[in-house]
Formats: sequence, C-alpha cells, structure tokens
Amino acid sequence: MQGARLRVGVLFGGRSGEHEVSVASARSVLGALDRSWYEVFPIGITPEGAWLLVEDPDRLVDGKGTRIGVVPGLSGRPLVGIDAGGGTLEEALDVAFPVLHGPYGEDGTVQGLLELLDIPYVGAGVLASAMGMDKVAMKVALQQAGLPMVSYRVLMVQGWREDATTVSRSLEQTLGFPVFVKPSNLGSSVGVSKATDRAGLCHAIEEAFRYDRKILVEQGLDCREVECGILGNDQPEASVLAEIVPKRAWYDYRAKYEPGMSEVLIPAPLPPSLTQEIQAQAIKAYQAIDCAGMARIDFFLDRASARPFVNEINTIPGFTATSVYPKLWEASRLGYSALLDRLIQLALERHGERRQLLTAYEKPEDR
Ligand SMILES: Nc1ncnc2c1ncn2[C@@H]1O[C@H](COP(=O)(O)OP(=O)(O)O)[C@@H](O)[C@H]1O
Ligand SMILES: [Mg+2]
Repeated sequence: MQGARLRVGVLFGGRSGEHEVSVASARSVLGALDRSWYEVFPIGITPEGAWLLVEDPDRLVDGKGTRIGVVPGLSGRPLVGIDAGGGTLEEALDVAFPVLHGPYGEDGTVQGLLELLDIPYVGAGVLASAMGMDKVAMKVALQQAGLPMVSYRVLMVQGWREDATTVSRSLEQTLGFPVFVKPSNLGSSVGVSKATDRAGLCHAIEEAFRYDRKILVEQGLDCREVECGILGNDQPEASVLAEIVPKRAWYDYRAKYEPGMSEVLIPAPLPPSLTQEIQAQAIKAYQAIDCAGMARIDFFLDRASARPFVNEINTIPGFTATSVYPKLWEASRLGYSALLDRLIQLALERHGERRQLLTAYEKPEDR
C-alpha cells in the first residue's frame, strides 16, 4: 500500500425496517477494519434517507454528522462531494462497503448508485442484489437451477382484493396447512406469519400485504434450519454449516434479535454427506443469481424426510461479531477482520475485471 491507505466508505443505517440491525452490523465492521490499512469513512443513512458522514455510528440517531451528496460523473477517481456547513469538500473513496439490510440497500438500489459513481463495492451486484431481495424472483432462479424448494404460490394485492374467498379456498386446496405467508421484499421475519386454518390464512395475508403488494404463501414444513456462508466471486467457497435452534415456535423477529431466544450450533450436527450436499446446493444457489462477494444461503431440513430445501439467499447477511455469517467463517478458519479484508479484496478484483471488458463494439478487422 506504500503509505496511502485504502479509503473505505462503510454505508449503514438506511431507509428500511432493518435500520437498527444495520447500525449494529456497522458498529462491528467499523470496529474491526484495520486502520493501519484503511482510512475509514462511516457513512450513515438516516431512516428518512439523508446521507451523513459520522464519527460514530451511534451518532446517526441524533443526526450529528456532515451531510453528503454524491454526484456521478465528477472527474478523476470516484468522488463523494461533502457539504460541510457551507463549504464543499471532496473525498475520493477507493471502495464502498454497504452494510445495509433490506430495501434501499440490499436490493440493488445502492449498488446501482455505486456503479454510476464507478466505486468498487463489497458484495453482490445490482441484479443479484435485486434477485436476493425479491423472494419471488429468487425462487424462479433457484427453481430454474434445479434446486429443491417448498411449494408456494404468489399473490398480488389486486387479485386478493378482487376475490379473497376464491383465492383463500384455492390456496387451502393446493397447499393445505400449515402455511407461511411472507412479503416478497423484506427480511428479518418482518410481516411473516404462520397460518394453520382459513381464518389465520386470511389474517396472515392481510398482514403481509401491509408490507408489500406482492406476497408468497408457502407450504409450511416441520423442519430444522441450517445456514451456509458463501465467499468469493467466480470461484465461490462454502463455509461450515450452522444450525439455528429458535426457542420460539419458529425463527421470528424476536427469536432473531432478542438475546437468548435462539441458539446457533456451529458446525451444524449433521452427517458429513448431508453437509456436503447442502454446501454444494448453496454454491449452486449463489451462482444461480450470479452473486459476488458474499451471501448466506438458508435451508430448511425437513424432519420427516431429512431432505434439504433452499429457503433464501441473503446478499448482505448480519455482520455483528456474533452474527452467523462471520461466525461461520471464523469456524472455517477466517477471522472477522481477515474476512473484511477478503471481501474488500474481492470487491476490488471484481471491479478490476469488469474494467477489462469492452464497452463498445470492436470490429473484427481492428483486433
Ligand atoms: N415454508 C416454511 N416452513 C417452515 N418454516 C418457515 C417457512 N417459511 C418461513 N419459515 C419460518 O419463518 C422464518 C422467516 O422466513 P424467511 O422466509 O426466512 O423470511 P426472512 O427473509 O424474513 O428471514 C424462517 O427462518 C422459518 O423459521
Ligand atoms: Mg430468513
């Protein structure tokens, strides 16, 4: 690096229901980035969408920071224009690390902005981020890749409002009970509920439609829950597996975020052959959405048949020091700080490779 440190912008907070989770993740990331290598710029996004350069992620709540505007097309290295109370200063970022969960961060929107700014960034690109966020799009891609999925149906709000009776009857006939109902574009179990009868189904559907105009109704399994970390670009590697054991009926918001409400077993107590099968499926799922950098792939393991089903892909998994994704890599002999270094390296590699691609037609005779 020869003196000059790599300038890393850590983006966190954001306009999503998972704002607080993101702040917690960022606190850990900011604490672990090696300052002898990196010059770190903590960039907090308020729930209203203002971008602030803050000294400490916990100051984002009181809005204490320097307001930032980003302008694509400024000359030279990627630039972030910073309006410091009247004066404008400009800062160049070498790489961005979006530690944002949920819509407006994990869904390709921020990734698209970073593409326009020509700033290399950690994690999945625009398409994979969008596919990972939208459970319906994700399932279509995973099914196409031949991965095992539970049966599901998609409902749009319009169809439901027009004829709820016919829709709920048909869902009951095709999927039976129990079912899980979930918004297509969310995470952290927000808006997800389990229904065991027709009245519960209608209630669960109404609840999910409060969060999204497109929702899924899925056959409910009696299952164990297993997660696999993936790291890499074109040659992704799988971590050891984790088993999540919620102390509630299922892995809902409280089980996820209240201390002691779930237990994480690493490595998951599974036979080696099943572990390998799940790891192979996780890599296949990662490649099915053309993911890059990292992802956590979540599975259901049906108790009766011991068959794995892919549940979902998280392109920006939780990143606190006790979150599953970093723990999985720690158990796979890659510590938290080294994981961050690797992710930044992958971001730079991917950006460099994309720069090699042609952006205009090259006539055969000019080659
Ligand atoms: N089809 C299903 N069968 C059994 N449990 C489910 C099913 N779908 C969801 N769940 C439970 O709900 C939790 C949250 O669902 P998930 O689809 O992972 O949404 P989120 O993106 O919010 O995490 C799962 O971790 C699991 O505990
Ligand atoms: Mg989940």
